[in-house]
Amino acid sequence: MIESQKHKMSLSHQPPKNSINPDTGLGWVKRLLPVARSHRKYLITGLSVGALALILNVAVPAIAKEAIDAAIGSRISDLTMWAIILIIVGVGRFATGALYRISLFKVAWGVETDLRALLYSHLTKLSFSYFDRTQSGQIISRANSDIRSIQVLLAFGPLIAMSIISFILAFCFMLTLHVPLTLVSLCTLPGVYFFGQKLRHSVFPLTWVSQARLAELATIVDENINGTRVVKSFAAEEQQVTLLQKAARHIEWVNVQTIKERAKFNPIIEALPRIGMAIVLLYGGLLAIDEQVSIGALFAFNAYVIMLQAPFRMFGFLLLQTQRASASASRIFEVLDEKPEISDLPSAVELNRIKGSITFKGVNFSYKNSKDPAERGDNNPQNQIISYLNLHIKAGESVAIVGMTGSGKSTIARLLTRFYDVDSGSISIDGNDIRNIRLNSLRQKIGIVFDEPFLFSTSIGENISYGNPNASDAEIHEAAKKAQAYNFISDLEDGFSTVVGERGYTLSGGQRQRIALARSLLEKPNILILDDATSAIDVGVESLIHDELKSSLRDTTTILIAQRVSTIALADRVVLLQDGAITDEGSHSSLLERNELYASIIAEGTSRTSEEAD
Ligand SMILES: Nc1ncnc2c1ncn2[C@@H]1O[C@H](COP(=O)(O)OP(=O)(O)OP(=O)(O)O)[C@@H](O)[C@H]1O
Ligand SMILES: [Mg+2]
Repeated sequence: MIESQKHKMSLSHQPPKNSINPDTGLGWVKRLLPVARSHRKYLITGLSVGALALILNVAVPAIAKEAIDAAIGSRISDLTMWAIILIIVGVGRFATGALYRISLFKVAWGVETDLRALLYSHLTKLSFSYFDRTQSGQIISRANSDIRSIQVLLAFGPLIAMSIISFILAFCFMLTLHVPLTLVSLCTLPGVYFFGQKLRHSVFPLTWVSQARLAELATIVDENINGTRVVKSFAAEEQQVTLLQKAARHIEWVNVQTIKERAKFNPIIEALPRIGMAIVLLYGGLLAIDEQVSIGALFAFNAYVIMLQAPFRMFGFLLLQTQRASASASRIFEVLDEKPEISDLPSAVELNRIKGSITFKGVNFSYKNSKDPAERGDNNPQNQIISYLNLHIKAGESVAIVGMTGSGKSTIARLLTRFYDVDSGSISIDGNDIRNIRLNSLRQKIGIVFDEPFLFSTSIGENISYGNPNASDAEIHEAAKKAQAYNFISDLEDGFSTVVGERGYTLSGGQRQRIALARSLLEKPNILILDDATSAIDVGVESLIHDELKSSLRDTTTILIAQRVSTIALADRVVLLQDGAITDEGSHSSLLERNELYASIIAEGTSRTSEEAD
């Protein structure tokens, strides 16, 4: 535990120095510039060392030419000098080449890391309504492949740009040696570009298809693993295997197509420079016999023909990658430009000590899952989830909210914690409108436990101390005791250090609910909302929990959302929610006597409970 906390400390969040330019009117490169600028040390090193590497690169064949000509002319002293220079240049080229690659890749990885941190920290600020209307796959692909495509451009773009400049330098140098031979020796390069483009055009769509198919396969595998209980209980293994096989065949097909296309074009692209060499040898050889060019020049031309095909092969890639990166950047910016719908007002105040009285006054609310107002149907009364809700809960009171499924019970809990804002009306705590309270302090004061709690893949202890990582072991144990979880946790072999599996599957539903309850109790909330939070816990244990809560949370305002009589009976008061409005309230027994709807909801809850007990 101590170890893991130390680990957490050392990894404390260091936000990127700069964010993107907020001006949406600018082009993507300009908007990204501030992020790149925070890595300018490496960027400047990379570019300047790169320029040196480039000159040395072009110089090698030229020096070799001098050395060969010196050897042929039997000028021994010249030969030794050129050989030494060649060694020095070679070593320099190696050193500069390594340094500028490292520097530029550092910039690329740095920008990638920054973008990922920016994106994630922005996502944590966005409201629930954003996640309601956005597929998680979309967000994940932005965080992965879109950021990656910008990184690839940043890493390889400068390299390719440099090789294009080196082409120009070499071209000029060759022209000074012999103009016709220069033109002849480069005559195959347009072919390299042409076939390179053709290859890309046929392979590129296939790589997209391949990626989509891989995602498809991953989904099937994921569903099979997570839904394995459903698959097995319906004996649907064969059906699933068939599905998987089909997806795997699709991938096979795409990959075979890709190889076929590559097999068609790659040999041509590789043969062209060799043809170029042959032409240089033939035409240049004739020129050398005529003594119009030296043997050394012939060698240099040959070396350049090989060296210069790289920019021609990669130029198309650069264009394409630029397009991809630009599209990716706009997708990333789309998320970063999204304004959080719920955020702190500048005038918002910190809640220090609260008593916990809650007032809903004329609250109206509907979910807006679409950005498009026409689609949203703002004036459509059918979408109205909460309609003109009035409810006052005294400090320290415990109130049960009872209603049919879909009547808006959980929505009330979400509004109180400002997961969503009310459309009209107001919610206040101790007389303060919750929109005037800092979100962090509001959510710290309110504990909320859902019926299907989410547990992280860490130890039970860390799950309980999630909201308060500095809690002592004694505090964690106390919270677990209150939630009646201490005994079963202590019985586990590793006790509180037991790591719960993905989503806590190794624990039963009731055990998970108790851990989630302990997690909320540890925060010592002033207002506690239990949204069906004890539905999977058996009645005996549940009543122990409530006894415990009654004594330890005497001052805590509690909202119980439940269908079981055993749970409801614990409340001071019961309110009946019907289509988003409160239609009746009173004690459990008085409602049971006079309200038919209430009686039928309770009857359903009771029959469900006895079914579960069977
Ligand atoms: N994120 C959402 N986006 C759109 N509609 C939603 C969303 N969450 C809930 N709803 C709808 O709002 C209505 C009320 O939902 P809510 O979860 O508040 O019901 P509930 O009373 O808690 O039901 P249950 O007893 O089944 O938990 C339902 O019709 C539901 O379909
Ligand atoms: Mg609910």
